[in-house]
Amino acid sequence: MRVALYPGSFDPITVGHVDIIQRLSKHFDKLIVLAANSARKKYLFNSEERVQLIEQIFEGQPSIEAHCFDGLTIDYAKKVGAKVIVRGIRAVSDFENEMAMATMNKSLSSDIETLVLFSSPEYHHVSSRFVKEIAMNGGPLKGLIPDNVITAMKNKF
Ligand code: PNS
Repeated sequence: MRVALYPGSFDPITVGHVDIIQRLSKHFDKLIVLAANSARKKYLFNSEERVQLIEQIFEGQPSIEAHCFDGLTIDYAKKVGAKVIVRGIRAVSDFENEMAMATMNKSLSSDIETLVLFSSPEYHHVSSRFVKEIAMNGGPLKGLIPDNVITAMKNKF
């Protein structure tokens, strides 16, 4: 069984993430979307909320699961039998961090590969950070995040 792990903050999940997940899921038997829960980071949505939002979006697609974790991604990959970690990149500015992370993960576990998927051009400008800024200031969220996430964001602010 080919299992892939797609880790991220997903605070909140955007249409760009959804696009990556849908494109990716075609190539694996199981895709685990892993919401990070780092004690060092402040999240708008707690990990249970982020997992729930992701589950709602992919309801009816049993090959896509949402989990959360608070350790090393590589350890979680081993735990679930994923040989592949996937990350999406939008622009050159994402590249440096992704390369450093992939190289570190490779040095931590040489048999797990990081695959990079380029975001679709129509989502190059979409980021969770911008979405939060827009939401905080009462701006329009349509087309940036799925409808269930819009509702959840409105309840937060
Ligand atoms: O969506 P993000 O914030 O870019 O995701 C970053 C994330 C959560 C994938 C990354 O910080 C991560 O994997 N954190 C868990 C700790 C870990 O494994 N660090 C990688 C060692 S380089």
